[in-house]
Amino acid sequence: MGEKKEKDQKTVAGKKPPQTENIEILLRPKSLEEFVGQAQLKDNLAVYFQAAKKRGEPIDHCLFYAPPGLGKTTLAHILAREMGVNIRVTSGPILTKLGDLAGLLTSLEEGDILFIDEIHRLGRSIEEALYPVMEDFTFYIHTGSRQSGMGSAHLKLAVPKFTLVGATTRAGLLTGPLRDRFGIIGHLGFYGVEEMCQIVLRSSKILGMNLSAEAAGILAGRSRRTPRTANRILKRVRDFACVLTGGEVTADLLKESLRRMEIDDMGLDPMDRRFLLTIIQNYDGGPVGLETLAAGLQEEPDTITDIYEPYLIQEGFIARTSKGRVASPKAFEHLGIKRAVRPVKETSATLFS
Ligand SMILES: Nc1ncnc2c1ncn2[C@@H]1O[C@H](COP(=O)(O)OP(=O)(O)O)[C@@H](O)[C@H]1O
Ligand SMILES: [Mg+2]
Repeated sequence: MGEKKEKDQKTVAGKKPPQTENIEILLRPKSLEEFVGQAQLKDNLAVYFQAAKKRGEPIDHCLFYAPPGLGKTTLAHILAREMGVNIRVTSGPILTKLGDLAGLLTSLEEGDILFIDEIHRLGRSIEEALYPVMEDFTFYIHTGSRQSGMGSAHLKLAVPKFTLVGATTRAGLLTGPLRDRFGIIGHLGFYGVEEMCQIVLRSSKILGMNLSAEAAGILAGRSRRTPRTANRILKRVRDFACVLTGGEVTADLLKESLRRMEIDDMGLDPMDRRFLLTIIQNYDGGPVGLETLAAGLQEEPDTITDIYEPYLIQEGFIARTSKGRVASPKAFEHLGIKRAVRPVKETSATLFS
């Protein structure tokens, strides 16, 4: 199967990637060994790969769930490489027509991977068509309808044994029947500072930057424990270095770059601070309901729950309660805001004491 490697890593949209996406591809770890952190998941995947290869079978369907930028897509591509198979890439919002699903399924060879990003956003008819495909590799094509008086019938299409890899920001968004059909469910958590340091050093080498260990350490602590964020900041730091110091990335240059990007010493960006400030100033520290908060921030509720909140919760800046979001004393302190003393009734403070 080895010669199939890299044969067919294209997207369904089939657009030619622009230059900047080439950097993204270069930055992406190519093997489990290169993939930093997530030790438990990686160890388990290595076993599943080996076992599947030994049996000469495709690996079981996999679901990866994690906040954005932690490595779900990267893992799907690594899976294809490690197994030496093709990968077809699509996503829940794009895959709306049963005909497109049929096209994708018929293009697969035995053992191939079909990667569905944002799988929680699949339409119902596609999701239901996937159940028998995932279970016994049969795709049912419905023909005729009761309304047309022809009765309903269906053709059976045998699909080669393949692996479906799904990615989602929250496993809880998947319906039970879909989730149950994945044999492997892997969660990726935020990275430790040490792991972020390794990622930063690895990426900086690929970007041709000569980063000192001190500079890498600073960046590791300010990139929301998220590889994608670290890579994004690194690329901008490279720009600042190119213009301000002729390429050298000193700790001073790095601090200046972060200051200009308005990333503070806890790694929070302007949007994070706006989020915390809104809860504190407009809603007295909370609790405030998600919809209200979203309206106040002029953001979609999903953007809040998927992008902003996970890190702020992980770092203890906010808590999610049944009554809504609550800013923690740490958030007040970080923003230098004194909490108003409130009359004795149940307050959010009790949550953190
Ligand atoms: N474990 C890791 N080690 C090194 N780099 C990583 C790791 N995980 C992610 N990255 C980097 O972060 C970027 C974002 O990862 P990606 O897989 O696209 O995240 P997701 O699909 O979860 O949003 C990748 O392009 C890759 O360069
Ligand atoms: Mg992704």
